[in-house]
Amino acid sequence: MIIPLAHRADQTQEYYFSVKLAEVRRLQAAGHDIINMGIGNPDLMPSANTLDALVQSVQQPTAHGYQPYKGTPGFRQAIAAFYGHTYGVTLDADTEILPLIGSKEGITHISLTFLNEGDGVLVPELGYPAYRAVSQMVGATVQEYPLLEHGGWQPDWEAMTDLVSRLSTKIIWMNYPHMPTGAPATRALFERAVRFAHDHQLLLCHDNPYSLILNKKAPISLLSIDGAREVAVELNSLSKSHNMAGWRIGWMAGEKAYVDAVLTIKSNVDSGQFKPLMDAATEALTNTDEWHRERNAVYQGRLDAVHALLDALNCSYTTDQEGLFIWAKLPDSVASAEQFVNDLLLNKHVFIAPGFIFGPKGNRYIRVSLCMPKERIEEAVKRVKE
Ligand SMILES: Cc1ncc(COP(=O)(O)O)c(C=O)c1O
Repeated sequence: MIIPLAHRADQTQEYYFSVKLAEVRRLQAAGHDIINMGIGNPDLMPSANTLDALVQSVQQPTAHGYQPYKGTPGFRQAIAAFYGHTYGVTLDADTEILPLIGSKEGITHISLTFLNEGDGVLVPELGYPAYRAVSQMVGATVQEYPLLEHGGWQPDWEAMTDLVSRLSTKIIWMNYPHMPTGAPATRALFERAVRFAHDHQLLLCHDNPYSLILNKKAPISLLSIDGAREVAVELNSLSKSHNMAGWRIGWMAGEKAYVDAVLTIKSNVDSGQFKPLMDAATEALTNTDEWHRERNAVYQGRLDAVHALLDALNCSYTTDQEGLFIWAKLPDSVASAEQFVNDLLLNKHVFIAPGFIFGPKGNRYIRVSLCMPKERIEEAVKRVKE
């Protein structure tokens, strides 16, 4: 190629899974039976009524044109009803909800909307890699905030106060139930975060895709906290909670001024989503509590098998984790997590994620996904023990 890249493309690394899953596919193409517990890609089906709604909608002549930039009113109303039912949060369906092509793209739109070059962004030292990557792409200065392992992976607020006073910080990213450590969300944590955002005049961006997965208490939205709306927005998604990761559908919720500002950017980037997809998502949001309980019962059943796998690998882990993954510490005898994960892939044909892809603090950890049938996880245990 003779055309030089933009600095941002030069400096950005391809997403770890984009590279690694290509390797997994090569091994599969060569005939190897790979047990992939690397990514949080639900293998369970969306609800039957979701699929029916898709099929019905796609047959309508009106379903195939461009849709409103803010999604269909019906979809926004369903999100508002879901927030009311699930979190006890009242949202105005017309003004406080912005449908997204998955919450991942929301990270980019929010960053483009609020960050100037050189603005500071606080990201968790272990977290979803896109917070950091996108902040860097828009020229912001990224600073990691510490998570206290012995405090249940909660943010170290004192250290953050120090960081904020040194950087001209504008945004802080947060995500509880936390990926990758599985640390639960608590009201006390959210109240502390909202106070922090007020004290330092920051936009608190909360990413909330795991609130319904293996949660031990009632799910919480950050927007249920007093004073949150002035300083916070929340991303949410159907990817994990409704088994619809490939559908690419989620949303941002927050005060009208934040939603309008993000829409200004987003409406210049894409032209919304396919109506049948939004109609089906509208239906998915009516899934009963029983449907969510049944999904969690399947994941609960897989947990034992994952614990057996981690025992076979001599890893240590806590049993209070929430979300779609189990975070585990490698034994001291392992010299390199990368080597460990590669050996497991090449020798046992079992793929799990190394912890360092979520931040350097994850060097001595691995993350195992629950998105595999129990029998396959048991097969992985057998292979490791052989
Ligand atoms: C913390 C976190 N945020 C966001 C996402 C992306 O979700 P979506 O599929 O809605 O883009 C993921 C996906 O793995 C995630 O773990």
